[in-house]
Amino acid sequence: MTKDLQITERELNVILENLVQTESVSGDVVEFGCYMGDTSVKMAEVMKSWPEKWLWLYDSFEGLPEKTAADKSGDGWAFRPGELKASAELVASKFKKLNLPEPVIMKAWFNELDANDDLPKQISFALLDGDYYESIKTSLILVAPKLSQGGKIIVHDYRNSALPGSAKAVNEFLENNPIFQLRLASGLAIIEYRG
Ligand SMILES: C[S@@+](CC[C@H](N)C(=O)[O-])C[C@H]1O[C@@H](n2cnc3c(N)ncnc32)[C@H](O)[C@@H]1O
Repeated sequence: MTKDLQITERELNVILENLVQTESVSGDVVEFGCYMGDTSVKMAEVMKSWPEKWLWLYDSFEGLPEKTAADKSGDGWAFRPGELKASAELVASKFKKLNLPEPVIMKAWFNELDANDDLPKQISFALLDGDYYESIKTSLILVAPKLSQGGKIIVHDYRNSALPGSAKAVNEFLENNPIFQLRLASGLAIIEYRG
């Protein structure tokens, strides 16, 4: 992993390849847990030639919440509450510096977001990177009903044994929503409509 980056080069490549595949799918692109916006700007670079699509970024900008029992792991206690704190201003300044189209940046806890008022009407691509069970579960509940046919949801940390809440939330979601199927690539969960 490159210094300060939260995802590996391989993961980034998978994310961008899958994003490209959704160019003609209706809807906007969302990232739940954008942190300092390093993956967000990479996605925005890909989307530069897609003027009809907006990028929506969500984060508490207060750092991580408390873990719940579902996040307990024998593989180390990754992260403490309040860790990974960034700011919307920092993310916005990165976009400005790189001359990228301004994204919608929302500072909120995911469970305080209103699906009608705070999310796009349709979603073509989503990156969910909230690390913990409740964060991923909430993002899936918000995003999945808005996913267009042909759209994709990528969930980070599916194979990260130090953050088991991510896989638990994805597996539960798939059990309850059999219209979706799972594909794995470089440890990322890729959720799509069953073909
Ligand atoms: C690992 S970082 C995201 C990294 C980013 N996607 C990237 O690729 O650089 C996780 C982020 O999720 C945010 N987060 C986690 N749970 C959240 C929640 N329930 N509500 C809002 N933000 C949350 C944290 O504040 C943190 O910035």
